[in-house]
Amino acid sequence: MSVDSASLLTLVWQELAAAVSLPEHPWRIPVLVTGGSQPDGRVVVLRRFQRAPDRLTFFTDARSPKLRAIREDPRVAWVFYHPVLRLQVRVRGQATLQPGTPAVRAHWEALSEIHRREYAAATAPGSPWSGAGFLEWAEASAHFAVVETEAEEWDCLQLDRNEHSRFRFHGGLMERLVP
Ligand SMILES: Cc1cc2nc3c(=O)[nH]c(=O)nc-3n(C[C@H](O)[C@H](O)[C@H](O)COP(=O)(O)O)c2cc1C
Repeated sequence: MSVDSASLLTLVWQELAAAVSLPEHPWRIPVLVTGGSQPDGRVVVLRRFQRAPDRLTFFTDARSPKLRAIREDPRVAWVFYHPVLRLQVRVRGQATLQPGTPAVRAHWEALSEIHRREYAAATAPGSPWSGAGFLEWAEASAHFAVVETEAEEWDCLQLDRNEHSRFRFHGGLMERLVP
């Protein structure tokens, strides 16, 4: 059964909102693709989803290669797949590193010690292993980064035994595409 585009997009937004607070939701850990001089993709945790303007947020270590890539070229793509709904969503947009606002500080304060440790490695993510050394929290907090993507284009593909449906939503316009 083919779905209509508005219902599909509404479903996508509902599932994204749910994914933020449901650890087992398949969309909680999408793939984030960066370009820059070296295209790359990696799994991140979707920390926040906001509508109108549509924004997706992840946390990272400010020293990580993905942030270098975003500084070189802020265009990113997020890729989500929901195996039960058989729904793939690709979101393209521009990523920005959030400045050290009280909101960013509040995210840091809300992290458990286990999660804070992810930003406390003595050397940068991706550098050669030289033993597990940890920074003090004050230093580690300086590496905690919140990155927001402003979504510009949604590409949704729902698989169905009879007829796959694909829609692109861009600049307020919805277009049906050949899957
Ligand atoms: C389930 C899972 C969740 C992850 N979540 C994050 C995340 O939220 N932020 C992050 O920077 N890295 C996260 N990672 C690690 C990244 O996938 C990646 O290995 C690391 O950040 C280095 O990426 P980079 O070299 O592209 O910067 C996660 C990995 C897995 C397997």
